[in-house]
Amino acid sequence: MARSVFIPRHGDVSVLEVRDGPPAALRPGTVRIRVSAIGVNFADVMMRMGLYPQAPKPPFVPGYEVAGTVVESAGDDGPAPGSRVWAVTRFGGYTEDLIAPAGKVHPLPENWSFEEGAAFPVAYLTAWMGLQEMARIREGDQVLVYGAAGGVGLAAVQIARAVGARVLGTCGGANKAQAVLEHGAEKAVNYKQEKIEDVASAWAPGGIDVAFDARGGGAMRRGLALLKPGGRLVAYGMSEAITGQKRNLFATAVTSLSFLRINLLQLVQNNWGVFGLDVLRLWDRDDLLPRVMVPLNTGIKTGSFRATVDTTFPMEQAGEAHRYLHERKNIGKVVLTTGV
Ligand SMILES: NC(=O)c1ccc[n+]([C@@H]2O[C@H](COP(=O)([O-])OP(=O)(O)OC[C@H]3O[C@@H](n4cnc5c(N)ncnc54)[C@H](OP(=O)(O)O)[C@@H]3O)[C@@H](O)[C@H]2O)c1
Repeated sequence: MARSVFIPRHGDVSVLEVRDGPPAALRPGTVRIRVSAIGVNFADVMMRMGLYPQAPKPPFVPGYEVAGTVVESAGDDGPAPGSRVWAVTRFGGYTEDLIAPAGKVHPLPENWSFEEGAAFPVAYLTAWMGLQEMARIREGDQVLVYGAAGGVGLAAVQIARAVGARVLGTCGGANKAQAVLEHGAEKAVNYKQEKIEDVASAWAPGGIDVAFDARGGGAMRRGLALLKPGGRLVAYGMSEAITGQKRNLFATAVTSLSFLRINLLQLVQNNWGVFGLDVLRLWDRDDLLPRVMVPLNTGIKTGSFRATVDTTFPMEQAGEAHRYLHERKNIGKVVLTTGV
């Protein structure tokens, strides 16, 4: 039997439930992973609350990223049994026994813990897709990273720094601002003390080159106005829709509608580019993952890219992990451990 954490119905953190079930069967082209660590994402919180349209209908097992040991392999393509790996999965990751397509399984660097492996994929793949594949950041670019102390945020800071871009990171707290600076940002703004727009305008009087924004809503549209001619905004979330522990359909509707208010004429007149990013919907682009992993692996080898694990919770306390993320306590990633 294998344990998994289910979202049996939408609701607060108390709905999460550990269930025992028979291990899933191996299919051609897949490997079985004995999972040691599981990355927790803000999207998991949103799907538990019923605010994530791409999620399956409950009951289902959430989770996009794991690290562990291959115990069985169907075919010669994948890593051999005994290999330490990290893997991405389209849901189903909150489990101690995962069947994953061999192409989505990657060797865990020798000096990384399972926790670091599980914390890596979603944050770095998202930040790389947004900043490199879409916004095409270059040396000297002034890049505004919102939510810079979160999992994706710190990855974005590292990735921007690795090409020699200059980073202004936003966050809500002095300890978070300190972490953002330690990860290589040139400047950090604690929005509880200073207005982001004021700091950004003083930092980049001619406008910023790239904004990386998971807030959505009116805040994102205000950020657009900070771009210089030729500037690019990557929109990859809508955290503005999360106002409390309960689902707020009004805030969700207002945040969603603000995306529709981006005006193509305004983009033309200002020479601005806006990209929308949802890595989950790139799942079937089999060409992308290997291509993106080549430069990411270079950064892993040089030590430029390494996930920051804030804290771990045993799998049985997945609800506490969600609460921790929801209350914005994390600097970097939150990880579940299975004890195997
Ligand atoms: N589109 C995609 O493909 C994709 C992929 C991965 C993640 N995402 C999105 O990217 C964002 C970051 O994800 P993550 O897993 O890195 O999350 P995370 O570690 O929890 O970081 C998110 C940060 O956003 C800030 N925030 C702003 N509004 C918030 C709210 N209402 N509730 C909680 N935090 C809020 C918090 O920073 P401060 O306290 O400093 O404000 C928090 O640290 C999320 O919105 C997520 O849905 C999108």
